[in-house]
Amino acid sequence: MAARTTKRPGVLFSMHRDVERVLIGRDRIAQRIAEIGGEITADLSRELLRAGEGDERIVLVPILTGAMVFVADLIRHVPLKMSIRPVTLSSYPGAATESQGVALRGDVPTDLGGAHVLIVDDILDSGRTLGLLRRMIGAQRPASVRIAVLLNKRKQHGREEDVKVEYAGFEIDDEFVVGYGLDYDGYFRNLPDVMVLGPAVEPGQVPERR
Ligand code: IMP
Ligand code: MG
Repeated sequence: MAARTTKRPGVLFSMHRDVERVLIGRDRIAQRIAEIGGEITADLSRELLRAGEGDERIVLVPILTGAMVFVADLIRHVPLKMSIRPVTLSSYPGAATESQGVALRGDVPTDLGGAHVLIVDDILDSGRTLGLLRRMIGAQRPASVRIAVLLNKRKQHGREEDVKVEYAGFEIDDEFVVGYGLDYDGYFRNLPDVMVLGPAVEPGQVPERR
């Protein structure tokens, strides 16, 4: 362990060794999130203007852990009174890069009747995660439900579940991406850009702990 001490830990322990290229840079992400935030603000404001009494609640439901960076930036472009109720769902346990069914950890709020709900996730892939959550929330008779995702993966053979997404930051090809909240085996969420993994990290393998 002592041998790993260095005056330049940023280089020795850099996570950039495992990533190949930037797919979407931080400036484009920031610009796009500002646009989406504006659309969401306009749409929810319109809903509130015609809402009946008791229907004026806005509740954001970010899906952790992947949506944490996206939602942190997005909410600062939506200057409306809202509460934020994160849920923890995951469909990529550990080092898998193919969706393996959705695991629900923790609770989904059960008091969303009459609320205007915005579900926020990092990426729409097979559609299972957002499909499940949209159904669970829809069953509570909210005043409205919308979904915002940063990334929408193009699927050549269609999705396992077709999910309507009202706001999508970027459409991307069907490849595995990390950064800006998205992980591979729990790592890389802190990359400021959306990036593609390098050949050192084969899908299904755990990246070497550094
Ligand atoms: P779905 O249920 O298959 O649509 O999967 C959505 C979830 O899988 C997202 O919330 C992500 O956490 C994860 N996921 C899907 N594609 C990727 C990817 O390319 N990189 C990292 N995580 C992904
Ligand atoms: Mg996720």
